[in-house]
Amino acid sequence: MSLEHTLSISEFKMFQKLIYEEIGISLAEHKRTLVQSRLRKWLNEFNLNSYEELYEKIANDSSSQMLMLLVNAITTNVTSFFREENQWIYLQNNIKELFDEPNKTIRIWSAACSSGQEPYSIIMFLKEHLSNFHQWDIKILATDISEDILKKAIKGIYTQKDIENMPKHVVLKYFDIFKNSNGSKNFVIKDELKQYIVFRSFNLVTGNFLMFKNKFNLILCRNVMIYFDRPTQNQLLEEFAKLLKENSRLFIGHSESIHTKNSKYKLAAPSIYKPN
Ligand SMILES: C[S@@+](CC[C@H](N)C(=O)[O-])C[C@H]1O[C@@H](n2cnc3c(N)ncnc32)[C@H](O)[C@@H]1O
Repeated sequence: MSLEHTLSISEFKMFQKLIYEEIGISLAEHKRTLVQSRLRKWLNEFNLNSYEELYEKIANDSSSQMLMLLVNAITTNVTSFFREENQWIYLQNNIKELFDEPNKTIRIWSAACSSGQEPYSIIMFLKEHLSNFHQWDIKILATDISEDILKKAIKGIYTQKDIENMPKHVVLKYFDIFKNSNGSKNFVIKDELKQYIVFRSFNLVTGNFLMFKNKFNLILCRNVMIYFDRPTQNQLLEEFAKLLKENSRLFIGHSESIHTKNSKYKLAAPSIYKPN
């Protein structure tokens, strides 16, 4: 196939619909070249002659493996340790009020955890700031739609660049450090942290929320709702509201917002909400 082959408007519309229905992401028209460049390698890989053939292959694959390729090609996995600094300061200032259950349980959901920096930041934070940490029953559920990125999250292997903004004493305490033959270093999350986190794949748009048996003290759904349209965001916020404990919080990304008319939530601090 020629490199000049372009994703036609009608082909783009087919992918646009599939991506909206299966992943919940609404792709604007101007994303056509982005989708084209992300999908091009699969034409070569599967020896296909057009994007339409690729569409057929994905749409007709009952194993969903092809759909996963699409997910991995389209979604952005950008993340970092202790992202959205104001939320960590808020947690530190409100830790006693937020986690005060007599039965000493903490349930947290990192709802689009990408390569794991978000749930690992939570457990590092709790280890650093929760008094009598070992007396608590703590479970962090970390989910993402992308199975590829979850594999990375489970391994918990990071580069020098990934950890560069973290205090050195935190890195030394929670990572095993390995030197590679080329002189670079790998920073691997210690097992003592991993034991608190369960990684699972979950699609926030098409997933079955009835599978959640317990409510959460804190849900983080950061920097993913921005890809969804308002109806999809509202539907997701409805589901989260049912899963939040009375004295709980929902953290969203700083460029995301919940409409002031949404009666299920009230603003606690920028990008932090309480259930109403
Ligand atoms: C930009 S990352 C955000 C990671 C992290 N929450 C943060 O704020 O740093 C967005 C993540 O959302 C995931 N994602 C996209 N669509 C999703 C969906 N429908 N259900 C669940 N996760 C989704 C992507 O795979 C990606 O890992």
